[in-house]
Amino acid sequence: MEQKLDIRGSFLEFFKSKGHQIYDSMPLVPNDPTLLFTNAGMVQFKDIFTGTLPPPKGLRATSSQVCLRAGGKHNDLENVGYTARHHTMFEMLGNFSFGDYFKKDAIKYAWEFVTEVLKLPKEKLYITVHESDDEAYNLWKEIVPISHIKRLGDKDNFWQMGDTGPCGPCSEIFIDQGEEHFSGSEDYFGGDGDRFLEIWNLVFMQFEKSKDGKLTPLPKPSIDTGMGLERVQAVMEGKTSNFDSSIFTPLIKEVEKLCNKPYKYETGASYRVIADHARAVCFLLAQGVTFDKEGRGYVLRRILRRALRHGYLLGIKGAFLYKVVDKVIDELSYHYSYLKEKRENILELCKLEELRFLDTLESGMKLFKEELSACEAKGEKIFSGEVAFKLYDTFGFPLDLTLDMLKDTILSLDIASFEACMETQKARSSASWKGSGDEGVNENFKHLVQSLLSKFGKNEFVGYEYASLESKILSLLDSEFNEVSTLKEGQKGYVLFAKTPLYPQGGGPLGEAGKLYKDTKLVAEVLDTKKYHDLIISSILSKDTLNVNETIKIEVSNDRFEIKKHHSATHLLHAVLHEVLGSSIAQAGSLVLKDRLRFDFTYHKALDSTSLDLIESKVNALIASALSTKVEHLSKEDAIAKGAKALFNEKYGDTVRVVSFGSESIELCGGLHVNNTAEINSFYITKEGSVSSGVRRIEAVCGLSAYEYASTHIRGLKNLENTLKTKDILGLVAKLKSTLKADSSIQEASFKAELINNVPCVISLASGNLKAHIDNFKNANVKCAIFLLQASDDKASLVLGSKGVELDCNMWLKSMSTLGLKGGGRKDFLQAGLKLEEGKSLDSKLVDEILSKAKAYLESNLKG
Ligand code: ALA
Repeated sequence: MEQKLDIRGSFLEFFKSKGHQIYDSMPLVPNDPTLLFTNAGMVQFKDIFTGTLPPPKGLRATSSQVCLRAGGKHNDLENVGYTARHHTMFEMLGNFSFGDYFKKDAIKYAWEFVTEVLKLPKEKLYITVHESDDEAYNLWKEIVPISHIKRLGDKDNFWQMGDTGPCGPCSEIFIDQGEEHFSGSEDYFGGDGDRFLEIWNLVFMQFEKSKDGKLTPLPKPSIDTGMGLERVQAVMEGKTSNFDSSIFTPLIKEVEKLCNKPYKYETGASYRVIADHARAVCFLLAQGVTFDKEGRGYVLRRILRRALRHGYLLGIKGAFLYKVVDKVIDELSYHYSYLKEKRENILELCKLEELRFLDTLESGMKLFKEELSACEAKGEKIFSGEVAFKLYDTFGFPLDLTLDMLKDTILSLDIASFEACMETQKARSSASWKGSGDEGVNENFKHLVQSLLSKFGKNEFVGYEYASLESKILSLLDSEFNEVSTLKEGQKGYVLFAKTPLYPQGGGPLGEAGKLYKDTKLVAEVLDTKKYHDLIISSILSKDTLNVNETIKIEVSNDRFEIKKHHSATHLLHAVLHEVLGSSIAQAGSLVLKDRLRFDFTYHKALDSTSLDLIESKVNALIASALSTKVEHLSKEDAIAKGAKALFNEKYGDTVRVVSFGSESIELCGGLHVNNTAEINSFYITKEGSVSSGVRRIEAVCGLSAYEYASTHIRGLKNLENTLKTKDILGLVAKLKSTLKADSSIQEASFKAELINNVPCVISLASGNLKAHIDNFKNANVKCAIFLLQASDDKASLVLGSKGVELDCNMWLKSMSTLGLKGGGRKDFLQAGLKLEEGKSLDSKLVDEILSKAKAYLESNLKG
């Protein structure tokens, strides 16, 4: 359903009319190790701001970006529900200038939009600027009265994306929502109250902050702005809380329906938490993030669990959040169509995870309440860190959930002892995930890449056409990433060629290896190849001296043939999975090697053998159809319209490479493929299993490995046929099975019971498990006596048992002691052996003698 006021549309159109290119929202999971989630509109332009990459289309951009602020530097999770304006997921409208216009035009455009497009009353608008920023102050002074401008410090008016990255002073636009609604002591201009609501942040990007806190001026001062769509929507609809706007009311109504109690603002935090969190859960699941014990998946789990706890407070029983998520999909699919395409899968994953937690929610709440009462009884003000840890570790309560529960009490948490418990257990590091995974990336290296890029531009990948090629060495780096002119024999380092056929790691396939030759002499082994921004760099071990500017012959490893087959087979598998399991499955990971492939995808349950057989045979059918590979370069829009599968977390350029096999498989992909599916030969699924909750993994082989896989199995079968001397193993097994059955029935039949003094008795030779025979016979009779003798040539063992009769098995055995039977045990069960006299053997005469003596004893002693 379209919102009544299309603020998003008006914003994008406004900036388009000012020469800005409209960009799509980038994924919530950024391709950036320093960030947990995309938390601002500028994230997709970060490398442009720092000058690492040139702007792809013009110096002006605009977007409406889906953001998440839950974890990492900007974390609003704990405020959500308790304030009028904090959210986990929200949309940020923004305009960006990459070294084009600066403060003057940024301010001019912003003022024009708020006063002429949104038509907000000028007298209600207020401005803050950084205390040092005279330029911005003077520009605003031209437009608004100075009583409406305030200078504030770093805390309010300096913006940075994360601990590192582009940053700068900012200027914020506020709207006065009216004294009549807000009269708290903090409700003054510049105070923390909600009366003066910030609606737009204009950041004057001037610096890049490095890990040591140093601010380096950016090559070109730029503009980054952010306006929260949900806030502006509420303002435009005359509401003082975002949750009262038309974006949230349908969701809150859904919660009312679920708990059957009307929503009131004053007591409605739980409704708001659920409405907010349903949106975050919906977008994260739609974009392929799955519930996990750590990292991003753990943040998703924390959000869902927080929502469930608020559902519990509202008295909602059972899984429910997925129903609110369903509503989110109804509300937002008009703009984010992938939500409705993935509806089924999103709801299934959400519901499953809910059920998983609901099992322990109740027990955890009980433990929490017990500790609360214990504190009250003792007059304690501190909630035990050990209990919080138990809640976390045993009942799956994330720490922020326990903190959230404590908000309703006067207690504070003993965080130190919680952390000590955590430390002792050395457990999941996720709770403290800060999103700064940048350690692996050497700072020098980053700068080096930038300088190489500006010196040489990007180098060309020619691997689609060539597997071997002569090319010039543009640069050599030693293992510490220092530029060197020579690499000596035995040294490890890196090489940048003007052109290279070596495929850099990307998607499922790893980076390619190979060999370097000078004339015909081997001069280096290529170990791996990676792409850093637009540079393809190979790591090498030199076998001879290598010099910059030399022309070298590069030969890609022959592994390429088999890797290509596994890569193309991965595409076919992906297409078939969609066909068999439904279009809501999404790729969650892929690994392509020369001898196997691994494909992870979101799906809620294990695949049974019928589905696996079907998938395998469909992939083989595509292989057998000998579909030729088609590669096209299309605009992203045309590719998507054609039905091409794209990965959510992948950043694609404007023109994308589309790889198709017939009409069955169409994907955006930069990798290397077979020319025709027939080259893949055949395909076998070797394993199916779970990776994490809601994510399945299929492992498979094709090409030469498929031959090896099949031939190992066939050889094993042949060996078996030879050993068993049959061509019909299954027939033989069936025959053996029925013989075994017949044998056991013969045995059972041979225990013919007879009545002695009206008591069912068995006195017999037997084989197999004697004790089990006794138990079976006893189970079948209310009263009975049983004597079983197992005889081989020179020894015998026997068991005696009775039930429901006056018969002491010890006495019974004793009556036969002259025959050499020895043993003892309980009255109703004993085991014994036969000790033969010298020179005597266990012949049928002796057996008869034993059996008849046993019978004679019963006849004279057994009483029913
Ligand atoms: N990047 C700025 C913000 O997030 C606009 O507030």
